[in-house]
Amino acid sequence: MLHFKILTIFPKYFASPFMDGLLKQAIENGVLRIDVQDIREFTRDKHRTVDDTPYGGGAGMVMKPEPIVFAIKQAVADAKASTVIVFSPKGKKFDQAAARRLSRHKQFVLVCGRYEGIDERVPAFYADEELSIGDYVLSGGEAAALVFIESVARLVPGFVGNDESLVRESYENGLLEYPQYTKPRTFEGHEVPPVLLSGNHRAIEQWRSEQSLKLTAERRPDLLGAAKK
Ligand code: ADE
Repeated sequence: MLHFKILTIFPKYFASPFMDGLLKQAIENGVLRIDVQDIREFTRDKHRTVDDTPYGGGAGMVMKPEPIVFAIKQAVADAKASTVIVFSPKGKKFDQAAARRLSRHKQFVLVCGRYEGIDERVPAFYADEELSIGDYVLSGGEAAALVFIESVARLVPGFVGNDESLVRESYENGLLEYPQYTKPRTFEGHEVPPVLLSGNHRAIEQWRSEQSLKLTAERRPDLLGAAKK
């Protein structure tokens, strides 16, 4: 069983994402468990304060360490061997290789930051990894946590129905995936590439590799150096 515990100040954000599709199925089948914990429940003051002004000055607010760390400690105590991940735009890059590496872990505590950031002592002393899902700034780590859960969960054996489809995807061989087509054969005058109708499996494989390479060269030349074949 794969278990994610999400720590957030916006628990309602996660009301629907796990109610459909593969994630819902996995939860129903007992392959996946997701808990959402409101960080505010770990505040100890009357106003349930989760943020404060930054030392050294500057705009915005910073999330205080106490409620987050109390929430992490509780989550780790409940789940024993948990991997604690903090999401932030200054984290290490989360990509398919990181998803693959982390998919061997079974218990995660996912910490979603808000405001201008989290007190640095949280990622420095209470987390295993600080991750960014890409070179853009979100207003919080909640969307990042969803991205993390979807990409890690689907690598766990038994999660995706067709394990073969995993191997063929974009990034799994270091290249973008070739284009796919289905019926009808002609749609508003646009034809499916004839080789796909030829029944010649070698020719189809060849065409797909060429398309993968061509697409990667056009759109993501940065991936070509690292690609596997
Ligand atoms: N929080 C804000 N921006 C983020 C990003 N790019 N990745 C992860 N967490 C974030």
